[in-house]
Amino acid sequence: MWQLVLPTALLLLVSSGVRADRQKAVVILDPEWVRVLQEDNVTLRCQGAYPPGDNSTEWFYNGSLISHKDSIYFIKNSRVSNSGEYRCRTGLSLLSDPVQLEVHMGWLLLQTSQWVFQEGEPIRLKCHSWRNKPVYKVMYLQNGKSKRYFPQNSEFYIPEATQDHSGSYFCRGMIGRNNKSSDTVKIIVQGPTSPSITVGFPPWHQITFCLLIGLMFVVDTVLYFFVQRNLRSSMKSWKESKFQWNRDPQDK
Ligand SMILES: *[C@@H]1O[C@H](CO)[C@@H](O)[C@H](O)[C@H]1NC(C)=O
Ligand SMILES: *[C@@H]1O[C@H](CO)[C@@H](O)[C@H](O)[C@H]1NC(C)=O
Ligand SMILES: *[C@@H]1O[C@H](CO)[C@@H](O)[C@H](O)[C@H]1NC(C)=O
Ligand SMILES: *[C@@H]1O[C@H](CO)[C@@H](O)[C@H](O)[C@H]1NC(C)=O
Repeated sequence: MWQLVLPTALLLLVSSGVRADRQKAVVILDPEWVRVLQEDNVTLRCQGAYPPGDNSTEWFYNGSLISHKDSIYFIKNSRVSNSGEYRCRTGLSLLSDPVQLEVHMGWLLLQTSQWVFQEGEPIRLKCHSWRNKPVYKVMYLQNGKSKRYFPQNSEFYIPEATQDHSGSYFCRGMIGRNNKSSDTVKIIVQGPTSPSITVGFPPWHQITFCLLIGLMFVVDTVLYFFVQRNLRSSMKSWKESKFQWNRDPQDK
């Protein structure tokens, strides 16, 4: 019985280790925009490890498993009804994080690859027209103020985002003779996370901490020996007095 327990425990440990080693699959959008216009073509790729002999991929749309088994999920001539949350998983990967796809109707759409960015990341914004019709005199606006102007349509590229780049964006331009505007998109640029703030603490905080610990250790040690010696001598005198006290009655 006991001979079985150890191998079983080892096996459990190893298999749980294997499972923890598995990485999440990743859904990659091509092109990278999470907002598209109707009739745009969108390709979703599932990136993850496959076991030998099983190349099938599981796709989840709005949380439900769909019948598609290929690693590439192609949405041709997208519809508003294709909007939603996409996730995937392969035989040797964990369920991916969701990719939220929005399919809109309209003439112009401000495209972005995500809504929330970290400071320092690049931001790409594209003023995209329905069926890729030519757009001229393109203006990108942030919080109602013009930020960038292109006589011919071009992407608005921010190489390194700062928190000043957070805000509501839209674009406008001319399609034929018509002045068209996109709706607004809220972009959030997040500052550094709290762990990197603690890293920035001046080193003397740590030095003081170490000195305090050292001091406490010294005080503790001195106290320990002091108390021990006192205890020993008081025990001795207590034993002696007890001995005397015990002896006393017999003396009588
Ligand atoms: C989507 O792809 C089809 C061909 O597969 C093409 O005819 C169509 O123009 C594409 N849509 C856009 C918006 O580019
Ligand atoms: C998976 O393998 C089968 C048989 O080898 C093949 O027919 C199929 O196209 C493959 N699918 C993918 C997604 O590679
Ligand atoms: C999927 O969810 C999106 C919202 O995230 C919704 O607009 C869409 O209609 C849903 N589609 C289906 C088929 O449930
Ligand atoms: C489009 O209209 C807005 C306001 O209605 C105006 O400020 C802008 O100059 C127009 N754009 C062009 C290219 O005419």
